[in-house]
Amino acid sequence: MLKIKNLSKTFYPSTPEEQIVFKDFSLDVEENVCTTILGPNGCGKSTLFNLISGSIIGDSGSIELNGAELMNIVEEKRAKYIGKVNQDPSMGVSPNLNILENMSIALKKGEKFTFKNLIKNTDVDLIVKKLKELDLGLEDKLTTQVKFLSGGQRQSLSLLMATIKRPDLLLLDEHTAALDPKTSKIVMEKTRNLINKEKITTLMITHNLRNAIEYSKRIIMLSKGEVVLDVRAEDITEEELNKLYNENILKDLRMAS
Ligand SMILES: Nc1ncnc2c1ncn2[C@@H]1O[C@H](COP(=O)(O)OP(=O)(O)OP(=O)(O)O)[C@@H](O)[C@H]1O
Ligand SMILES: [Mg+2]
Repeated sequence: MLKIKNLSKTFYPSTPEEQIVFKDFSLDVEENVCTTILGPNGCGKSTLFNLISGSIIGDSGSIELNGAELMNIVEEKRAKYIGKVNQDPSMGVSPNLNILENMSIALKKGEKFTFKNLIKNTDVDLIVKKLKELDLGLEDKLTTQVKFLSGGQRQSLSLLMATIKRPDLLLLDEHTAALDPKTSKIVMEKTRNLINKEKITTLMITHNLRNAIEYSKRIIMLSKGEVVLDVRAEDITEEELNKLYNENILKDLRMAS
């Protein structure tokens, strides 16, 4: 379980550009289910993920994952426990490497390896099995460079790479935002299948309110680095969520002006 306690982060402190993104922010995240984080642009959603994954270091506070204090662990070591998929289909994969090489790297997450010993025959069977489960025919394109895949295929591959070694926590930062509606739905369905099958504790950022309700158990809305809504997805309608979302965007705009 992820427990965030009194987390604070200010960018450019004590300068005219000072920006307090989080001040004593606390949040407990439920295990084995998907929690959605909503909120207007700039409210701190991606910063929260970066603080959890370690690409940004918090000023103070605690981020505990299954009892271990993450604030004391460097990003590369945190990656062993945390899977991340971003909005950009070219991130999360190595575009010039082929599917087999990318998947092999994902299997070696947290281990030291060289390219000479990258691909093991035993891994190939597992990789083919996982790609077949994805049902996009990628198992027939093992030697295709990932840069030649479509955005949807790449995001699905990123998702598989982030979860092939079951992470303790999966962070999805608008991972379907760059996809067309049909592909977005396909990737969301694959996301749900993977999360449910492997029972992965997931935090998902999206601006798509329907996806928030349809694909997650709990919905949290942030505004200016604070939780302004925390509900079960089954207890709120898209219309109610939309109203609250717009109210908070307006509130943020008023505060910024
Ligand atoms: N590395 C950084 N250095 C300086 N400022 C940053 C950095 N990362 C984020 N910020 C600032 O922190 C604030 C929150 O940004 P963040 O990216 O977390 O927003 P967000 O909620 O993810 O927005 P969006 O919905 O647009 O993705 C913004 O004002 C941003 O400029
Ligand atoms: Mg963001």
